[in-house]
Amino acid sequence: MNQVCYDSLNRQAEALLGGESNMIAAMANFSALINQTLPDLNWVGFYIKQDEQLVLGPFQGKVACARIPWGKGVCGTSAATDSTLRVDDVHQFEGHIACDSASNAEIVIPVHHAGEVIAVLDIDSPLHNRFSADDQQGLEILVKTLEIALFA
Ligand code: SME
Repeated sequence: MNQVCYDSLNRQAEALLGGESNMIAAMANFSALINQTLPDLNWVGFYIKQDEQLVLGPFQGKVACARIPWGKGVCGTSAATDSTLRVDDVHQFEGHIACDSASNAEIVIPVHHAGEVIAVLDIDSPLHNRFSADDQQGLEILVKTLEIALFA
């Protein structure tokens, strides 16, 4: 099973990101940490808000679409509704934007600054039903660690 110790991962993230307020550096290492720790992933990275779009940020994985309109796809919907979206089968998500045909499940978590969504963390898996409620809870805490490193 995909048992990840999120407490330990969060401590690693705090140590890795502590004192690093540069968004590119922090997001790059954050995506690498998740990619090297969580099993069965094929893409991990950020889309960053710019005007009314999301623009590709630091990531690990295959090349991906560079821009996503606000409110479109899983990422744009998560950003526009300021909610985590956990999708068991992306092919059942209307408007899903397929960047890597290997992806079957996805979780997208908003990143905030001053109460506004400024980016999303997007994680894809080739496995259906890859992300559990425990994964969601652990990843949301990790994103809070990133927010604190960037903006506290
Ligand atoms: N599937 C996403 C697009 C980004 S890629 O998965 C890297 C979406 O529907 O928003």
